[in-house]
Amino acid sequence: MSEYILEMTGINKEFPGVKALQDVQFNLKPGEVHALMGENGAGKSTLMKCLIGIYHRNSGTIIYDGQEIDYGTTSEALNNGLSMIHQELSPVPERTVTENVWLGRQPMKNKLMVDHRKMREDTVKLFEQLNVVINPDEKMKYLTVSQMQMVEIAKAVSYNSKIVIMDEPTSSLTESEVSHLFDIIRMLKEQNVGVIYISHKMEEIFQICDRVTVMRDGQYVSTDNVSDITMDQLITKMVGRELTDLFPKTECEIGEVVLEVKDLKAGRMVKNVSFDLRRGEILGFAGLVGAGRTETMEAIFGLRKIESGSIKYKGQEIHIKCPDDAIKLGIDYLTEDRRAKGIVGIRNIRDNTVLSCLSRYGTPLNQARMRADTQEYIDKLSTKTPSQEEEIKNLSGGNQQKVLLGRVLLTGPDVLIVDEPTRGIDVGAKSEIHALLSQLAGEGKAVIMISSEMPEIMGMSDRLVVMHEGDVTGIIDRSEFSQELIMKFATGVTE
Ligand SMILES: Nc1ncnc2c1ncn2[C@@H]1O[C@H](COP(=O)(O)OP(=O)(O)OP(=O)(O)O)[C@@H](O)[C@H]1O
Ligand SMILES: [Mg+2]
Repeated sequence: MSEYILEMTGINKEFPGVKALQDVQFNLKPGEVHALMGENGAGKSTLMKCLIGIYHRNSGTIIYDGQEIDYGTTSEALNNGLSMIHQELSPVPERTVTENVWLGRQPMKNKLMVDHRKMREDTVKLFEQLNVVINPDEKMKYLTVSQMQMVEIAKAVSYNSKIVIMDEPTSSLTESEVSHLFDIIRMLKEQNVGVIYISHKMEEIFQICDRVTVMRDGQYVSTDNVSDITMDQLITKMVGRELTDLFPKTECEIGEVVLEVKDLKAGRMVKNVSFDLRRGEILGFAGLVGAGRTETMEAIFGLRKIESGSIKYKGQEIHIKCPDDAIKLGIDYLTEDRRAKGIVGIRNIRDNTVLSCLSRYGTPLNQARMRADTQEYIDKLSTKTPSQEEEIKNLSGGNQQKVLLGRVLLTGPDVLIVDEPTRGIDVGAKSEIHALLSQLAGEGKAVIMISSEMPEIMGMSDRLVVMHEGDVTGIIDRSEFSQELIMKFATGVTE
Protein backbone atom coordinates (compact mmCIF):
# COMPACT_ATOMS: atom_id res chain seq x y z
CA MET A 1 0.00 0.00 0.00
CA SER A 2 1.14 3.49 -0.81
CA GLU A 3 1.63 5.89 2.07
CA TYR A 4 -0.68 8.27 0.25
CA ILE A 5 -4.45 8.35 0.36
CA LEU A 6 -4.38 10.55 -2.72
CA GLU A 7 -1.97 10.87 -5.63
CA MET A 8 -2.63 13.26 -8.49
CA THR A 9 -0.14 13.30 -11.35
CA GLY A 10 0.14 14.99 -14.73
CA ILE A 11 -3.13 16.86 -14.35
CA ASN A 12 -4.06 19.13 -17.25
CA LYS A 13 -7.12 21.33 -17.54
CA GLU A 14 -7.96 23.89 -20.19
CA PHE A 15 -10.72 26.49 -20.37
CA PRO A 16 -11.35 28.54 -23.50
CA GLY A 17 -8.30 30.77 -23.74
CA VAL A 18 -6.81 29.59 -20.42
CA LYS A 19 -4.47 26.74 -19.59
CA ALA A 20 -5.56 26.50 -15.98
CA LEU A 21 -3.51 23.42 -15.07
CA GLN A 22 -0.42 22.07 -16.78
CA ASP A 23 1.08 18.80 -15.64
CA VAL A 24 0.24 19.38 -11.97
CA GLN A 25 0.99 16.89 -9.22
CA PHE A 26 -0.26 16.69 -5.66
CA ASN A 27 -0.38 14.01 -3.00
CA LEU A 28 -1.85 13.61 0.46
CA LYS A 29 -1.22 11.31 3.41
CA PRO A 30 -3.99 10.21 5.76
CA GLY A 31 -4.05 12.38 8.89
CA GLU A 32 -1.99 15.17 7.37
CA VAL A 33 -2.89 18.77 6.68
CA HIS A 34 -1.44 19.66 3.31
CA ALA A 35 -1.50 23.31 2.28
CA LEU A 36 -1.99 24.29 -1.35
CA MET A 37 -0.69 27.76 -2.05
CA GLY A 38 -0.20 30.08 -4.98
CA GLU A 39 -1.18 33.45 -6.36
CA ASN A 40 -4.68 34.34 -7.47
CA GLY A 41 -5.49 32.35 -10.56
CA ALA A 42 -2.66 29.86 -9.99
CA GLY A 43 -5.13 27.00 -10.35
CA LYS A 44 -5.69 25.83 -6.77
CA SER A 45 -9.47 25.75 -6.83
CA THR A 46 -9.49 24.28 -10.32
CA LEU A 47 -7.23 21.40 -9.24
CA MET A 48 -9.60 20.60 -6.39
CA LYS A 49 -12.65 20.88 -8.62
CA CYS A 50 -11.06 18.33 -10.95
CA LEU A 51 -10.62 16.04 -7.97
CA ILE A 52 -14.23 16.13 -6.82
CA GLY A 53 -15.91 15.95 -10.20
CA ILE A 54 -16.98 19.55 -10.76
CA TYR A 55 -14.57 19.83 -13.68
CA HIS A 56 -13.33 17.13 -15.98
CA ARG A 57 -9.57 17.04 -16.32
CA ASN A 58 -8.27 16.91 -19.90
CA SER A 59 -5.62 14.42 -18.86
CA GLY A 60 -3.77 13.08 -15.85
CA THR A 61 -4.19 10.39 -13.22
CA ILE A 62 -5.89 10.54 -9.84
CA ILE A 63 -5.36 7.62 -7.50
CA TYR A 64 -7.50 7.72 -4.38
CA ASP A 65 -7.41 5.03 -1.74
CA GLY A 66 -5.55 2.72 -4.11
CA GLN A 67 -7.88 3.14 -7.07
CA GLU A 68 -7.88 5.34 -10.11
CA ILE A 69 -10.89 7.64 -10.03
CA ASP A 70 -12.66 9.95 -12.42
CA TYR A 71 -15.75 11.31 -10.72
CA GLY A 72 -18.39 12.92 -12.89
CA THR A 73 -20.35 14.61 -10.12
CA THR A 74 -19.74 15.95 -6.64
CA SER A 75 -22.24 13.56 -5.14
CA GLU A 76 -20.18 10.69 -6.47
CA ALA A 77 -17.14 12.21 -4.76
CA LEU A 78 -19.08 12.82 -1.55
CA ASN A 79 -20.40 9.28 -1.44
CA ASN A 80 -16.84 8.07 -1.74
CA GLY A 81 -15.51 10.16 1.10
CA LEU A 82 -14.33 13.39 -0.54
CA SER A 83 -15.91 16.60 0.67
CA MET A 84 -15.07 20.22 0.01
CA ILE A 85 -15.72 23.55 1.66
CA HIS A 86 -15.99 25.91 -1.26
CA GLN A 87 -14.33 29.28 -1.59
CA GLU A 88 -17.53 30.88 -2.82
CA LEU A 89 -20.26 29.77 -0.45
CA SER A 90 -23.66 29.01 -1.95
CA PRO A 91 -26.17 28.76 0.87
CA VAL A 92 -29.91 28.56 0.23
CA PRO A 93 -30.93 31.76 2.01
CA GLU A 94 -34.64 31.01 2.48
CA ARG A 95 -34.01 27.64 4.11
CA THR A 96 -33.02 26.96 7.70
CA VAL A 97 -29.55 26.11 8.89
CA THR A 98 -30.62 22.47 9.38
CA GLU A 99 -32.01 22.24 5.86
CA ASN A 100 -28.83 23.71 4.45
CA VAL A 101 -26.70 21.13 6.23
CA TRP A 102 -28.70 18.14 4.95
CA LEU A 103 -29.71 19.53 1.58
CA GLY A 104 -30.04 16.74 -0.97
CA ARG A 105 -29.60 13.98 1.62
CA GLN A 106 -32.42 14.56 4.09
CA PRO A 107 -33.22 11.59 6.31
CA MET A 108 -36.53 10.05 5.21
CA LYS A 109 -39.49 8.66 7.11
CA ASN A 110 -41.16 5.64 5.48
CA LYS A 111 -39.13 6.46 2.36
CA LEU A 112 -41.68 9.17 1.58
CA MET A 113 -41.37 12.07 3.90
CA VAL A 114 -38.46 14.04 5.15
CA ASP A 115 -37.83 13.19 8.80
CA HIS A 116 -37.59 16.73 10.11
CA ARG A 117 -37.16 15.66 13.70
CA LYS A 118 -34.22 13.41 12.99
CA MET A 119 -32.70 16.03 10.73
CA ARG A 120 -32.87 18.61 13.49
CA GLU A 121 -31.53 16.21 16.10
CA ASP A 122 -28.63 15.29 13.83
CA THR A 123 -27.81 18.96 13.39
CA VAL A 124 -27.85 19.56 17.12
CA LYS A 125 -25.57 16.54 17.61
CA LEU A 126 -23.20 17.66 14.87
CA PHE A 127 -23.00 21.20 16.23
CA GLU A 128 -22.42 19.88 19.75
CA GLN A 129 -19.64 17.62 18.56
CA LEU A 130 -17.98 20.57 16.83
CA ASN A 131 -18.84 23.19 19.45
CA VAL A 132 -20.72 25.29 16.92
CA VAL A 133 -23.18 27.68 18.54
CA ILE A 134 -25.70 28.54 15.84
CA ASN A 135 -29.47 28.13 16.01
CA PRO A 136 -30.37 25.21 13.69
CA ASP A 137 -33.81 26.73 13.03
CA GLU A 138 -32.57 30.15 11.92
CA LYS A 139 -33.04 30.97 8.26
CA MET A 140 -29.71 30.98 6.50
CA LYS A 141 -30.19 34.55 5.29
CA TYR A 142 -30.08 35.93 8.82
CA LEU A 143 -26.62 34.51 9.48
CA THR A 144 -23.44 36.54 9.25
CA VAL A 145 -20.93 35.53 6.60
CA SER A 146 -18.77 33.95 9.28
CA GLN A 147 -21.66 31.92 10.67
CA MET A 148 -22.46 30.71 7.16
CA GLN A 149 -18.87 29.65 6.83
CA MET A 150 -19.07 27.70 10.10
CA VAL A 151 -22.22 25.94 8.84
CA GLU A 152 -20.38 25.05 5.66
CA ILE A 153 -17.48 23.65 7.68
CA ALA A 154 -19.81 21.58 9.86
CA LYS A 155 -21.57 20.32 6.76
CA ALA A 156 -18.31 19.19 5.14
CA VAL A 157 -17.29 17.37 8.31
CA SER A 158 -20.70 15.68 8.59
CA TYR A 159 -20.04 13.50 5.55
CA ASN A 160 -17.44 11.54 7.57
CA SER A 161 -15.07 11.89 4.67
CA LYS A 162 -11.56 10.53 4.28
CA ILE A 163 -10.47 13.77 2.69
CA VAL A 164 -11.79 17.22 3.47
CA ILE A 165 -10.80 20.02 1.12
CA MET A 166 -10.95 23.51 2.59
CA ASP A 167 -10.76 26.27 0.02
CA GLU A 168 -10.04 29.46 1.97
CA PRO A 169 -12.16 28.39 4.92
CA THR A 170 -11.07 31.29 7.11
CA SER A 171 -11.58 34.14 4.67
CA SER A 172 -14.54 35.41 6.70
CA LEU A 173 -13.58 34.14 10.13
CA THR A 174 -12.18 36.15 12.99
CA GLU A 175 -9.24 34.99 15.06
CA SER A 176 -11.22 33.12 17.68
CA GLU A 177 -13.23 31.38 14.99
CA VAL A 178 -10.03 30.46 13.19
CA SER A 179 -8.72 28.80 16.32
CA HIS A 180 -12.07 27.01 16.61
CA LEU A 181 -11.62 25.74 13.05
CA PHE A 182 -8.12 24.59 13.93
CA ASP A 183 -9.55 22.54 16.81
CA ILE A 184 -11.88 20.91 14.30
CA ILE A 185 -8.94 20.23 11.98
CA ARG A 186 -6.97 18.63 14.83
CA MET A 187 -9.96 16.43 15.56
CA LEU A 188 -10.07 15.38 11.89
CA LYS A 189 -6.35 14.58 12.01
CA GLU A 190 -6.90 12.33 15.01
CA GLN A 191 -9.50 10.48 12.99
CA ASN A 192 -6.88 10.04 10.26
CA VAL A 193 -8.71 12.29 7.83
CA GLY A 194 -6.51 14.03 5.25
CA VAL A 195 -7.09 17.76 4.95
CA ILE A 196 -6.20 19.87 1.91
CA TYR A 197 -5.92 23.43 3.08
CA ILE A 198 -6.00 26.38 0.68
CA SER A 199 -5.26 29.77 2.16
CA HIS A 200 -3.41 32.99 1.45
CA LYS A 201 -2.75 33.56 5.14
CA MET A 202 0.84 32.67 5.84
CA GLU A 203 0.52 32.43 9.61
CA GLU A 204 -2.16 29.77 9.24
CA ILE A 205 0.06 27.60 7.09
CA PHE A 206 2.76 27.61 9.73
CA GLN A 207 0.28 26.99 12.53
CA ILE A 208 -1.74 24.08 11.24
CA CYS A 209 -0.17 22.51 8.15
CA ASP A 210 2.32 19.65 7.86
CA ARG A 211 3.34 20.05 4.22
CA VAL A 212 2.87 22.75 1.63
CA THR A 213 2.62 22.50 -2.15
CA VAL A 214 3.10 25.66 -4.19
CA MET A 215 1.60 26.30 -7.63
CA ARG A 216 2.32 29.15 -9.99
CA ASP A 217 0.51 29.98 -13.27
CA GLY A 218 -1.15 26.60 -13.46
CA GLN A 219 2.06 24.70 -12.83
CA TYR A 220 3.48 22.70 -9.98
CA VAL A 221 6.39 24.41 -8.23
CA SER A 222 7.31 22.44 -5.10
CA THR A 223 6.27 20.44 -2.06
CA ASP A 224 8.00 20.92 1.30
CA ASN A 225 7.60 20.04 4.93
CA VAL A 226 6.38 23.20 6.62
CA SER A 227 9.07 22.73 9.27
CA ASP A 228 11.76 22.89 6.58
CA ILE A 229 10.77 26.19 4.99
CA THR A 230 10.64 29.84 6.06
CA MET A 231 7.89 32.30 5.30
CA ASP A 232 10.16 34.31 3.03
CA GLN A 233 11.15 31.24 1.05
CA LEU A 234 7.52 30.30 0.67
CA ILE A 235 6.57 33.77 -0.57
CA THR A 236 9.42 33.73 -3.06
CA LYS A 237 8.25 30.40 -4.44
CA MET A 238 4.72 31.70 -4.80
CA VAL A 239 5.36 35.00 -6.49
CA GLY A 240 8.55 34.00 -8.26
CA ARG A 241 10.47 36.94 -6.85
CA GLU A 242 11.40 38.35 -3.48
CA LEU A 243 8.80 40.52 -1.87
CA THR A 244 10.26 43.26 0.25
CA ASP A 245 7.33 45.03 1.80
CA LEU A 246 3.97 43.55 2.72
CA PHE A 247 2.69 46.79 4.18
CA PRO A 248 4.07 49.59 2.03
CA LYS A 249 2.69 52.38 4.11
CA THR A 250 3.96 55.82 3.29
CA GLU A 251 3.70 58.50 5.91
CA CYS A 252 1.66 61.32 4.46
CA GLU A 253 0.31 64.58 5.70
CA ILE A 254 -2.94 64.29 7.58
CA GLY A 255 -5.29 67.12 6.66
CA GLU A 256 -8.65 68.46 7.76
CA VAL A 257 -11.63 66.37 8.81
CA VAL A 258 -13.70 65.13 5.84
CA LEU A 259 -16.15 62.89 7.58
CA GLU A 260 -17.56 63.37 11.04
CA VAL A 261 -19.87 60.74 12.43
CA LYS A 262 -21.60 61.52 15.70
CA ASP A 263 -23.75 59.29 17.91
CA LEU A 264 -24.81 57.14 15.00
CA LYS A 265 -27.53 54.63 15.77
CA ALA A 266 -28.82 52.18 13.17
CA GLY A 267 -30.50 48.98 14.27
CA ARG A 268 -29.25 46.65 16.96
CA MET A 269 -25.74 46.34 15.55
CA VAL A 270 -24.92 50.05 15.54
CA LYS A 271 -25.73 51.51 18.92
CA ASN A 272 -23.57 54.55 19.37
CA VAL A 273 -20.77 55.26 16.94
CA SER A 274 -18.73 58.46 16.76
CA PHE A 275 -15.47 59.07 14.93
CA ASP A 276 -13.90 61.45 12.50
CA LEU A 277 -11.87 60.84 9.39
CA ARG A 278 -9.21 63.13 7.96
CA ARG A 279 -7.72 63.68 4.54
CA GLY A 280 -4.61 61.66 3.94
CA GLU A 281 -5.59 59.19 6.59
CA ILE A 282 -6.15 55.45 6.58
CA LEU A 283 -8.52 54.83 9.45
CA GLY A 284 -8.69 51.18 10.45
CA PHE A 285 -11.73 49.53 12.00
CA ALA A 286 -11.00 46.55 14.21
CA GLY A 287 -13.30 44.32 16.20
CA LEU A 288 -14.71 40.86 16.45
CA VAL A 289 -17.52 39.58 14.27
CA GLY A 290 -20.76 41.14 15.45
CA ALA A 291 -18.97 44.32 16.51
CA GLY A 292 -21.03 46.30 14.00
CA ARG A 293 -18.25 47.57 11.76
CA THR A 294 -19.84 46.51 8.47
CA GLU A 295 -23.26 47.67 9.64
CA THR A 296 -21.83 51.09 10.53
CA MET A 297 -20.38 51.49 7.06
CA GLU A 298 -23.58 50.23 5.44
CA ALA A 299 -25.49 52.87 7.39
CA ILE A 300 -23.14 55.63 6.24
CA PHE A 301 -23.34 54.38 2.64
CA GLY A 302 -27.16 54.41 2.61
CA LEU A 303 -27.70 50.67 2.80
CA ARG A 304 -29.16 50.72 6.29
CA LYS A 305 -31.67 53.03 7.91
CA ILE A 306 -30.18 55.52 10.34
CA GLU A 307 -32.29 56.04 13.46
CA SER A 308 -30.42 58.90 15.04
CA GLY A 309 -27.12 60.73 15.05
CA SER A 310 -25.47 62.89 12.43
CA ILE A 311 -22.96 62.64 9.60
CA LYS A 312 -21.03 65.66 8.39
CA TYR A 313 -19.14 65.49 5.13
CA LYS A 314 -16.73 68.28 4.23
CA GLY A 315 -18.31 70.40 6.96
CA GLN A 316 -21.95 69.93 5.93
CA GLU A 317 -24.54 67.67 7.43
CA ILE A 318 -25.59 65.05 4.87
CA HIS A 319 -28.53 62.66 4.59
CA ILE A 320 -27.68 59.75 2.36
CA LYS A 321 -30.71 57.70 1.37
CA CYS A 322 -29.13 55.21 -1.00
CA PRO A 323 -25.68 54.21 -2.32
CA ASP A 324 -26.19 56.38 -5.40
CA ASP A 325 -26.42 59.49 -3.19
CA ALA A 326 -23.18 58.48 -1.50
CA ILE A 327 -21.31 57.85 -4.73
CA LYS A 328 -22.45 61.21 -6.13
CA LEU A 329 -21.05 62.93 -3.04
CA GLY A 330 -17.77 61.10 -3.42
CA ILE A 331 -18.14 58.31 -0.87
CA ASP A 332 -17.82 54.74 -2.09
CA TYR A 333 -17.91 51.40 -0.32
CA LEU A 334 -16.39 48.03 -1.19
CA THR A 335 -18.57 45.30 0.29
CA GLU A 336 -17.21 42.38 2.29
CA ASP A 337 -19.80 40.06 0.81
CA ARG A 338 -18.67 39.91 -2.77
CA ARG A 339 -20.87 37.04 -3.83
CA ALA A 340 -24.19 38.25 -2.48
CA LYS A 341 -23.76 42.02 -2.72
CA GLY A 342 -20.88 42.58 -5.08
CA ILE A 343 -20.47 40.77 -8.34
CA VAL A 344 -23.01 40.37 -11.09
CA GLY A 345 -21.89 36.85 -11.93
CA ILE A 346 -23.22 36.43 -15.43
CA ARG A 347 -21.98 39.82 -16.61
CA ASN A 348 -18.50 40.35 -17.93
CA ILE A 349 -15.58 42.12 -16.31
CA ARG A 350 -16.32 45.39 -18.07
CA ASP A 351 -19.97 45.58 -17.01
CA ASN A 352 -18.95 44.79 -13.47
CA THR A 353 -16.26 47.46 -13.45
CA VAL A 354 -18.29 50.38 -14.79
CA LEU A 355 -21.48 49.51 -12.91
CA SER A 356 -21.27 52.38 -10.39
CA CYS A 357 -20.37 55.01 -13.03
CA LEU A 358 -22.80 54.29 -15.85
CA SER A 359 -24.10 57.86 -16.06
CA ARG A 360 -20.59 58.95 -16.96
CA TYR A 361 -20.69 57.15 -20.30
CA GLY A 362 -23.76 58.89 -21.80
CA THR A 363 -26.49 57.44 -24.03
CA PRO A 364 -25.80 55.41 -25.98
CA LEU A 365 -23.01 54.18 -23.74
CA ASN A 366 -19.56 55.15 -24.92
CA GLN A 367 -18.16 51.64 -25.32
CA ALA A 368 -14.62 52.72 -26.16
CA ARG A 369 -14.35 54.74 -22.98
CA MET A 370 -15.77 51.95 -20.90
CA ARG A 371 -13.24 49.61 -22.43
CA ALA A 372 -10.35 51.97 -21.72
CA ASP A 373 -11.39 52.56 -18.10
CA THR A 374 -11.79 48.85 -17.48
CA GLN A 375 -8.40 48.12 -18.97
CA GLU A 376 -6.83 50.76 -16.75
CA TYR A 377 -7.93 48.91 -13.61
CA ILE A 378 -7.17 45.46 -14.99
CA ASP A 379 -3.61 46.72 -15.47
CA LYS A 380 -3.36 48.65 -12.21
CA LEU A 381 -4.51 45.67 -10.15
CA SER A 382 -2.90 43.00 -12.37
CA THR A 383 -6.24 41.22 -12.66
CA LYS A 384 -5.75 37.87 -14.32
CA THR A 385 -8.34 37.32 -17.06
CA PRO A 386 -8.26 36.26 -20.71
CA SER A 387 -10.28 39.35 -21.68
CA GLN A 388 -12.72 42.03 -20.50
CA GLU A 389 -15.49 39.99 -22.04
CA GLU A 390 -14.95 37.09 -19.63
CA GLU A 391 -17.90 36.52 -17.29
CA ILE A 392 -16.76 37.49 -13.83
CA LYS A 393 -17.92 34.21 -12.32
CA ASN A 394 -15.21 32.41 -14.30
CA LEU A 395 -12.41 34.36 -12.59
CA SER A 396 -10.60 32.99 -9.58
CA GLY A 397 -11.87 34.30 -6.25
CA GLY A 398 -9.04 36.74 -5.72
CA ASN A 399 -9.40 38.13 -9.21
CA GLN A 400 -13.12 38.73 -8.70
CA GLN A 401 -12.17 40.76 -5.65
CA LYS A 402 -9.80 42.83 -7.78
CA VAL A 403 -12.58 43.64 -10.24
CA LEU A 404 -14.76 44.92 -7.40
CA LEU A 405 -11.92 47.00 -6.07
CA GLY A 406 -11.53 48.45 -9.55
CA ARG A 407 -15.20 49.37 -9.52
CA VAL A 408 -14.91 51.50 -6.39
CA LEU A 409 -11.62 53.06 -7.46
CA LEU A 410 -13.16 54.04 -10.79
CA THR A 411 -15.76 56.22 -9.09
CA GLY A 412 -12.83 58.29 -7.82
CA PRO A 413 -14.16 58.74 -4.28
CA ASP A 414 -12.81 61.25 -1.76
CA VAL A 415 -13.80 58.86 0.98
CA LEU A 416 -13.16 55.24 0.19
CA ILE A 417 -14.54 52.65 2.58
CA VAL A 418 -13.12 49.18 2.05
CA ASP A 419 -14.47 46.19 3.94
CA GLU A 420 -11.97 43.31 4.08
CA PRO A 421 -10.36 44.59 0.85
CA THR A 422 -7.76 41.86 0.53
CA ARG A 423 -9.95 38.91 1.38
CA GLY A 424 -8.78 36.02 -0.77
CA ILE A 425 -6.00 38.07 -2.33
CA ASP A 426 -2.53 36.58 -2.63
CA VAL A 427 0.50 38.07 -0.88
CA GLY A 428 1.95 39.76 -3.94
CA ALA A 429 -1.29 41.42 -4.98
CA LYS A 430 -2.00 42.28 -1.36
CA SER A 431 1.12 44.33 -1.13
CA GLU A 432 0.13 46.07 -4.40
CA ILE A 433 -3.32 46.88 -3.06
CA HIS A 434 -1.84 48.22 0.16
CA ALA A 435 0.46 50.42 -1.90
CA LEU A 436 -2.53 51.67 -3.86
CA LEU A 437 -4.48 52.57 -0.71
CA SER A 438 -1.43 54.31 0.64
CA GLN A 439 -1.08 56.23 -2.60
CA LEU A 440 -4.73 57.34 -2.48
CA ALA A 441 -4.20 58.65 1.04
CA GLY A 442 -1.11 60.44 -0.22
CA GLU A 443 -3.26 62.19 -2.83
CA GLY A 444 -5.37 63.64 -0.02
CA LYS A 445 -8.18 61.13 -0.12
CA ALA A 446 -9.39 59.44 3.02
CA VAL A 447 -9.66 55.70 3.48
CA ILE A 448 -11.61 53.64 5.98
CA MET A 449 -10.44 50.06 6.14
CA ILE A 450 -12.22 47.27 7.95
CA SER A 451 -10.05 44.23 8.36
CA SER A 452 -10.01 41.18 10.57
CA GLU A 453 -6.37 40.54 9.83
CA MET A 454 -4.29 42.00 12.61
CA PRO A 455 -1.04 42.39 10.64
CA GLU A 456 -2.89 44.18 7.86
CA ILE A 457 -4.85 46.56 10.02
CA MET A 458 -1.88 47.36 12.22
CA GLY A 459 0.44 47.67 9.25
CA MET A 460 -1.71 50.04 7.22
CA SER A 461 -3.73 52.26 9.56
CA ASP A 462 -2.84 55.70 10.90
CA ARG A 463 -5.44 55.35 13.61
CA LEU A 464 -7.63 52.50 14.68
CA VAL A 465 -11.25 52.60 15.77
CA VAL A 466 -12.09 49.50 17.79
CA MET A 467 -15.70 48.43 18.10
CA HIS A 468 -17.50 46.03 20.38
CA GLU A 469 -21.18 45.11 20.09
CA GLY A 470 -22.23 48.26 18.28
CA ASP A 471 -20.19 50.72 20.33
CA VAL A 472 -16.81 52.33 19.79
CA THR A 473 -14.71 51.14 22.71
CA GLY A 474 -11.43 52.76 21.79
CA ILE A 475 -9.57 54.89 19.25
CA ILE A 476 -5.85 54.22 19.08
CA ASP A 477 -3.01 56.20 17.48
CA ARG A 478 -0.48 54.38 15.33
CA SER A 479 2.26 54.98 17.89
CA GLU A 480 0.21 53.12 20.51
CA PHE A 481 -0.78 50.09 18.40
CA SER A 482 -0.46 46.73 20.07
CA GLN A 483 -2.34 43.52 19.60
CA GLU A 484 -3.11 43.38 23.32
CA LEU A 485 -4.67 46.84 23.41
CA ILE A 486 -6.76 46.13 20.31
CA MET A 487 -8.00 42.85 21.77
CA LYS A 488 -8.80 44.56 25.04
CA PHE A 489 -11.06 47.11 23.36
CA ALA A 490 -12.45 44.49 20.97
CA THR A 491 -13.64 42.39 23.88
CA GLY A 492 -15.50 45.31 25.41
CA VAL A 493 -13.09 47.02 27.77
CA THR A 494 -13.46 50.78 27.32
CA GLU A 495 -10.88 53.55 27.42
N1 LIG B 1 -15.16 27.94 -15.23
C1 LIG B 1 -14.10 28.59 -15.73
N2 LIG B 1 -14.11 29.10 -16.97
C2 LIG B 1 -13.05 29.75 -17.48
N3 LIG B 1 -11.91 29.96 -16.81
C3 LIG B 1 -11.82 29.48 -15.56
C4 LIG B 1 -12.91 28.79 -14.94
N4 LIG B 1 -12.53 28.42 -13.69
C5 LIG B 1 -11.29 28.89 -13.53
N5 LIG B 1 -10.84 29.51 -14.65
C6 LIG B 1 -9.51 30.10 -14.84
O1 LIG B 1 -8.54 29.17 -14.41
C7 LIG B 1 -7.46 29.83 -13.75
C8 LIG B 1 -7.24 29.24 -12.38
O2 LIG B 1 -8.30 29.63 -11.53
P1 LIG B 1 -8.49 29.11 -10.05
O3 LIG B 1 -9.84 29.54 -9.61
O4 LIG B 1 -8.17 27.67 -9.98
O5 LIG B 1 -7.36 29.94 -9.26
P2 LIG B 1 -6.99 29.91 -7.72
O6 LIG B 1 -5.59 29.45 -7.60
O7 LIG B 1 -8.02 29.17 -6.97
O8 LIG B 1 -7.01 31.48 -7.36
P3 LIG B 1 -7.58 32.29 -6.07
O9 LIG B 1 -6.49 32.31 -5.06
O10 LIG B 1 -7.83 33.66 -6.58
O11 LIG B 1 -8.82 31.61 -5.61
C9 LIG B 1 -7.80 31.30 -13.74
O12 LIG B 1 -7.14 31.94 -14.79
C10 LIG B 1 -9.31 31.33 -13.97
O13 LIG B 1 -9.69 32.51 -14.61
MG1 LIG C 1 -9.47 29.72 -5.62
